[in-house]
Amino acid sequence: MSNEAKLELDGKVFTLPTITGSEQERAVDVSSLRANTNFITLDDGYGNTGSCVSKVTFIDGDKGILRYRGIPIEELAEKSSFIETAYLLIYGTLPTRPQLKQFSDTIAEHQFLHEDMKYHFQGFPAGSHPMAILSSMINAASCFDEGLMNWHEGKARFDTYVAKLISQVRTIAAYSHRQSKGLPLMYPKQSLKYTPNFLHMLFSMPYEDLEIKPEVAKALDLIFLLHADHEQNCSTSTVRMVASSQANLYASCSAGVCALWGPLHGGANQAVIEMLEQIHREGDDGSKFILAAKDKTSGKKLMGFGHRVYKNHDPRAKIIKKACDDVLSKLNINDPLLDIAKKLEEAALKDSYFVERKLYPNVDFYSGIIMRAIGIPVEMFTVIFAIGRMPGWIANYKEIMEEPKTRIYRPRQIYTGRTENHYVPLDERK
Ligand code: ACO
Repeated sequence: MSNEAKLELDGKVFTLPTITGSEQERAVDVSSLRANTNFITLDDGYGNTGSCVSKVTFIDGDKGILRYRGIPIEELAEKSSFIETAYLLIYGTLPTRPQLKQFSDTIAEHQFLHEDMKYHFQGFPAGSHPMAILSSMINAASCFDEGLMNWHEGKARFDTYVAKLISQVRTIAAYSHRQSKGLPLMYPKQSLKYTPNFLHMLFSMPYEDLEIKPEVAKALDLIFLLHADHEQNCSTSTVRMVASSQANLYASCSAGVCALWGPLHGGANQAVIEMLEQIHREGDDGSKFILAAKDKTSGKKLMGFGHRVYKNHDPRAKIIKKACDDVLSKLNINDPLLDIAKKLEEAALKDSYFVERKLYPNVDFYSGIIMRAIGIPVEMFTVIFAIGRMPGWIANYKEIMEEPKTRIYRPRQIYTGRTENHYVPLDERK
C-alpha cells in the first residue's frame, strides 16, 4: 500500500504523504500543500477534513462503532459509571481504585461555587434559557480563580481544574434551572455521589429533600456516560479551536456549551420532544410528519434522525432505547410520546427516503423521553448533554495543551466577494 499521494496541479505533480491511524483509517496529509503549491483545500462543513490527530475516541460510522480510549461504548454502558468513564477519557486508562477515589474526592471537594457567584445568577431574568446561563457562568467561574486566568499557573494545577470543572458544571447546571424557574438555589450535599447530588440540587426544596430513586439516578448516569465524548463534532472542535489560542480551560469549555446549544447538535434532544409533542397535539400518528420531513419545502426534519458520521445505527441509540423501555416500566410510566417515537422509527427505517440517505435514529431520539420520564424539564435537556460532554471536551483540551507542536487553529477561505472598489461619499450613493 503506497504511503504517498500524487496530485497534479497546473501540469506539475506534487507528492503528498499519507498517514494511517491505529484503526487503519487513512488521510492525505496536506499540511505542506499551500507552501509548495499555493493551493488550499476547500471542504465545506469539514466532512472530509481531519483537523487533528487524537487518541481519545474512535468512531466507525459505517459499522456503528464507538469506543472511548479503545473500550466499546456497550461495555462502558454496562459496567462503568460516568465518573470512571470521565477519568478514562481524560487520563487515557481506567483508574485504579486509589486513583478513582482521589478523582471522586477532588470532584466532591470542589462542588461548592464561590458564594459571590450567587449574585451573578440573580442577574439573569426568570425564563432565561439554562444553556445561556450555563455557558456564561462557566466562563464567570474562571474569574474566581487566579490560576485559571494565568495560563502557566493553570497548567501546574491542571488536574485540580479538571475535577473542579466536572464538579462545578453540575452545580452551575442545577442552579441555572433553579434560577430560570425563580426557585431557591440548593447547595450540593457532601454525602451524595455525582449524579444523585445533581438530582438533589435540581429538585430538592429547602423544606423537603428529594427522595432519590436508584433507577432514576442510574438512567441519568447512563445518559451522561453515553454523551461523554464523540470525537471531532461541532462543540469539541470549537473547544479545540478556542484552546489552540491557549485560552483557559473554562473559557474553552464555555465556548463548547454555546456550540452544543443549536438544534442540529445538542439542542436536538429538546427539538425531538417538541416534535413528538406537536405530533401528539395534532392527533397525527407520525405518518403526516414523516411526509413533511421528506418535503424540503416544509422546513421540517425528523429530529433525532441522521448523523454526519453514522451511516448505520448510532450504537448509543440502541443502548438508550433499551434503557428508555427499562426506566419507563420500572417507574410505571406510560408515555404516548414513546409510542409515537417507536412508530416514527419503524416507519422511517422502512421508508426509501431515509433508507437511501442512511438516516438512522441518533442518541437524541430516545434520551429526551427518558429525561421527560424522570422529570427533567425540556429546556434542561441540552444542559444534561453538556454535563455529560464535559470530560470529552476536557480530554481534547488536554490533548491540545500537551501536544508540543500545536499551532493556533486558523483555517483559510476562498474569497468570493467583490474585488477592489472604492469608498463612495454618502451623498453620492444610489
Ligand atoms: N430528516 C429529514 N431529512 C434529513 C434528516 C432528517 N433528520 N437528516 C438529513 N436529512 C437529509 C438531508 O435533507 C439531505 O437530503 P438531500 O441529500 O436530498 O439533500 C440528506 O439527508 C443528507 O443530510 P445532510 O444534511 O447533508 O447531513 P449532514 O451530515 O450535513 O447533517 C445532521 C447531519 C445535522 C445530524 C442532520 O441529519 C440533521 O439535521 N438531523 C436532525 C437533527 C439531529 O437529530 N441532530 C442531532 C445530531 S446527533 C448529536 O449532535 C448528538
